[in-house]
Amino acid sequence: MAQSRSTAGQGLHVAIIMDGNGRWAQARGLPRVFGHVAGARAVRRCVRTAGALGLRTLTLFAFSSANWMRPAPEVDALCALMTRHLREEQARLRAAGVRLEVIGRRDRLPGELLEAIEEAERQTSTGTQLCLRLAIDYSSRESILGAARRFHVETARGGAPAGFGRLLATGAEDVDLLIRTGGEQRLSDFLLWECAWAELHFTRVAWPDFGARELRRALRSFAARERRFGALPEKGSAA
Ligand code: IPE
Ligand code: IPE
Ligand code: MG
Repeated sequence: MAQSRSTAGQGLHVAIIMDGNGRWAQARGLPRVFGHVAGARAVRRCVRTAGALGLRTLTLFAFSSANWMRPAPEVDALCALMTRHLREEQARLRAAGVRLEVIGRRDRLPGELLEAIEEAERQTSTGTQLCLRLAIDYSSRESILGAARRFHVETARGGAPAGFGRLLATGAEDVDLLIRTGGEQRLSDFLLWECAWAELHFTRVAWPDFGARELRRALRSFAARERRFGALPEKGSAA
């Protein structure tokens, strides 16, 4: 948690709602799935830049639990694309010292995707440079509900839960900066607990066009903000 930094992203947790793939493709007269293919390339660029900028954690919203409501061909294409991406990227991630973790439900994923996730997590488990978390079949409300149930069970057993956040499947790491691409200004059930004190950055740039320049711009905007966490401005900055 930083108020200002010399190195833009050092030690931060940045989370991104990668939105706008479908509209990006449709604007070019292409089927929506082309937008997802271009989106996967943007993920690769963004992870590379995140590592170079010294981010601690990058959490990317790849597929929400609500996205199962999309037409089956689009869901199938997304699952196939995520499977391919994980298989293709794991060696590169490992070489770059990136530790990959997938958050979200696993019981509804196609077998091939589940295997690719487990293999990529295994292959990258020793990474210490950047923690990359992909949210797949993820719903923040569901994650909070699960934590509430665990909290209840632990309390009933006579234990004294150390903290509610610890019980969230996601590890409850606070987000410093939340970015949403594609022009919408909503959270769509993403990291609701973890974003309690996050700075928000909304951009009209569609995810396939998001690159190093846009990430640096978002981090500059973050660095210029004063985070007060409910307290008063630091001495010297008060009016
Ligand atoms: C984000 O892009 C990717 C996923 C939600 C899987 P969209 O597919 O939502 O693209 P738009 O918002 O319809 O343009
Ligand atoms: C949020 O985008 C989910 C992901 C980026 C994976 P959506 O496109 O699904 O969100 P809504 O439906 O516009 O809120
Ligand atoms: Mg969308």
